[in-house]
Amino acid sequence: MNLDDQTCLVTGSSRGIGRGIVTDLASRGAAVAVNYRSSAAEAEAVVESIEADGGTAVAARADVSDLENVRAMRGEVHDSLGPVDVLINNAGITVDKKFENMDRADWEAVIDVNLGGVYNCTKTFFNDLRDARHGRLINISSVVGQQGNYGQANYATTKSGLFGFTRTLALEMASSGSTANCIAPGFVKTDMLEEVPERVQEKILQDIPLDRFATVQDICGIVSFVASEESSYMTGQVLGVNGGMEW
Ligand SMILES: NC(=O)c1ccc[n+]([C@@H]2O[C@H](COP(=O)([O-])OP(=O)(O)OC[C@H]3O[C@@H](n4cnc5c(N)ncnc54)[C@H](OP(=O)(O)O)[C@@H]3O)[C@@H](O)[C@H]2O)c1
Repeated sequence: MNLDDQTCLVTGSSRGIGRGIVTDLASRGAAVAVNYRSSAAEAEAVVESIEADGGTAVAARADVSDLENVRAMRGEVHDSLGPVDVLINNAGITVDKKFENMDRADWEAVIDVNLGGVYNCTKTFFNDLRDARHGRLINISSVVGQQGNYGQANYATTKSGLFGFTRTLALEMASSGSTANCIAPGFVKTDMLEEVPERVQEKILQDIPLDRFATVQDICGIVSFVASEESSYMTGQVLGVNGGMEW
């Protein structure tokens, strides 16, 4: 998969899955924008590592839940890399609690980033994707959006919401030749999974037929495929990358 001449923005790519995705895209020739909210040093380290390998990358700070931040980021990305061909809405957070203990602030914090951020970024970069004609919108959902998960009513709602959003954008972008798809990873070894108690991780593992958590690398190649020319006839889909978990 060759991504020469593609410009990609990956939200939340200072750490975790986003970091892996942006590094993989750059290794295939894409110029990339490494978005982050607060991990400036980590984002700069990602940029340096990509540049050391001969790639092109810029760090792009914005809290995706803040539309003005995202608009400012668009200006910076355009100035340094030009219009974006591939937008990967990856930034996401969890605030886990049983629903009976989940107050409105816990609910809204997750909705604001995981869905509000997707609105803000897609809205702001929509014209770029449409005008690219081979544009790619890729939304990072989760198996939790398919199965639900104890203590994650807010998070599961946002991740299910991406299915309807993606399908609709696929229809609305189709006339321009651009596509919209969702990746729904299973449980991946990142800081987010580290927050899950050990005994809960052991229970989750029992439900994974491949008998291991995903590595970041298990996800990246599939995202790069969806970003590439090779996926041009695939749109409106949800790709489960979950070790065979049922849903
Ligand atoms: N890990 C899993 O098991 C798993 C499974 C399925 C799906 N996912 C999804 O995959 C995505 C990445 O997860 P992860 O495990 O890599 O998470 P992570 O390790 O916690 O990293 C989250 C990334 O998102 C950024 N971020 C958070 N809030 C942001 C905001 N408001 N604006 C901009 N950036 C923001 C963080 O940047 P800062 O550090 O600068 O805040 C960081 O780069 C999420 O959408 C998650 O729901 C994860």
